[in-house]
Amino acid sequence: MEFTAVILAAGKGTRMKSSLPKPLHRVGGHPMLGWSIDAARAAGATRTVAVLAPGLDEIQTWLDETAIAIQEDQLGTGNAVAAARDAVGMDDGIAIVMFADTPLVRADSIAALVAKVADGAAIAVAAFEPADPAGYGRLVQGANGAVERIVEHRDATEAQQRIGLCNGGIMAARTPLLFALLDQVTNDNAKGEYYLTDIVALAAAAGHKVTHTVIDETEILGVNDRTDLAAAEAALQARLRTAAMQAGVTMIAPETVFMAADAVIEQDVIIEPHVVIGSGCHIGEGSIIRAFSHLEGTRLGTCCIIGPYARLRPGTDADDGVKVGNFVEIKKTKLGAGAKANHLTYLGDATIGAEANIGAGTITCNYDGFGKYETLIGDGAFIGSNTALVAPVTIGARAIIGAGSTITRDVGPDNIAVERANTSEKAGAAAKFRETRQKKTKPRR
Ligand code: UD1
Ligand code: MG
Repeated sequence: MEFTAVILAAGKGTRMKSSLPKPLHRVGGHPMLGWSIDAARAAGATRTVAVLAPGLDEIQTWLDETAIAIQEDQLGTGNAVAAARDAVGMDDGIAIVMFADTPLVRADSIAALVAKVADGAAIAVAAFEPADPAGYGRLVQGANGAVERIVEHRDATEAQQRIGLCNGGIMAARTPLLFALLDQVTNDNAKGEYYLTDIVALAAAAGHKVTHTVIDETEILGVNDRTDLAAAEAALQARLRTAAMQAGVTMIAPETVFMAADAVIEQDVIIEPHVVIGSGCHIGEGSIIRAFSHLEGTRLGTCCIIGPYARLRPGTDADDGVKVGNFVEIKKTKLGAGAKANHLTYLGDATIGAEANIGAGTITCNYDGFGKYETLIGDGAFIGSNTALVAPVTIGARAIIGAGSTITRDVGPDNIAVERANTSEKAGAAAKFRETRQKKTKPRR
C-alpha cells in the first residue's frame, strides 16, 4: 500500500536549550528525525517529506532521499502540514503525519493507521492512554465510539480533561481531504495556533469517518527537553537489550549495557556488566565482551575475548579468536586470527598478523604531530613488553622484538631485534652508597 509520510520537524525545540536542532539529537546513536523516517519507510512509505523551519541547514545536508518543505513561521502543527502541500501533491492517496520528536514509534503502528484509511476511514488517529494525560490533546468520542473531535489540553473543559484517551500526534488521512480540511482550520484557540487536530471535528461534521487505534505509551513518548531525551533513550535501550537477548545474547546485567541501534551481535555472545557498544559494531558468534569495555565502529570475528577495560575505536577489525585485554586501545587496526594484545597497549593504523603476540606496554607510535603512519606486524611475530614501534615500520613474520626496544627501522622475518643499552653493574656500589648517605644524615631522636 503506497503512502507518503510527512514528518514535522519545524518546531523551535526551545526547551532542549541547544544549538543543535532538536530533530538531530540522538537516541540510540541515531538522530530522532532519522528514527521517524526509518519507521515510515519500514512501514512501506514510498515518499518521505520533512517539514523544516527556514535555516535548518544542518538538517538539510543530512537528509538524503527525503523531500523538504519549509514552514516559514511556526504557526502550529496544522500550518506545518499545510506547508508540505506542494511536496506531497494532491493525487488521491494516503498521507501520514508524524513528529520528529517521537523516536520510538514502531513501523507496525504506522502501518495499522494507514490500513484503517485504506479500509475506508477518512482519518485514523494514533491514540494512547498515558498515566498522566496532562498536556495532551483528548479524543472526544460519540455514542458509537467514533472520534468526534480532538480537544487540546489548554482548550479542554474540566469534563474533557478527565478523558484518559489522548492524541499520540500521528494521523493518517486521505491526501486531498487532509489539505481541504486544513484550509478550514483557524487559530481561534488558547495558543493562537493552527492545530492539525482541528481537522478531526471538521471531518466528523462533514460526515467523514474518523477512527483511531490505541498504541503503547512508550511509542508515543515525545521529546521536549533533555529529561524526555533520557527517558526515550532508556526506553530504546530496554528494547535493544530485549531484542539482543531474544536473539541469543547473554547479558549478565542488561540494565548496565548500552548499545547503538545498529549493533549486530551474533548468537552466544556474552556481554558482562558496564559495556558500551557504539555505532557500527558487529560482534561475532561466541565472543565475550568483559566488563567496562567501550566499542565503536568495530568488527569482531567469532570467539574473540575483549576486556575488561578495553577500548576499541573505529576501524578495529579483528578475525576469529582475537584476544584484547585490559587497558588496551585499538584504532584503525586489523588483527589476524588468534592475535593477542593482552595488556596496556596502543595499536593505531596497524596490521597485526595471525597469532602475533603483542606484549604489555607496546605502543605503535603512529603520529609525529603532522601525519599518521602505518605499522605492519607479520604472522606469529612476538613483540616484547614495553616496545615502541616508530611508524612507518614493518616487523616480519615470526620475528621477535626484545622487551624495552624502540624500533625505528624494519625487522626481517624470523629475526630477533633488540634495541637496548647494555646494563652496567658495579659490585658493592649499593652498600657503599648507603654508607655515605647515612654519615650525612643526622641521627633520628
Ligand atoms: C501535539 C498535539 C496533541 C498531542 C501531542 C502528542 C497538536 C495541535 N497537538 O501537541 O494533540 O497530544 O502532540 O505529543 O497537534 N511543529 C512544527 N511546526 C509548528 C509546530 C510544531 O513543525 O509550527 C512540529 C514540532 O517540531 C514537533 C511536532 O510538530 O515535532 C509537535 O509539536 P508540539 O509543539 O510538540 O505539539 P504538542 O503541543 O506536543
Ligand atoms: Mg510535543
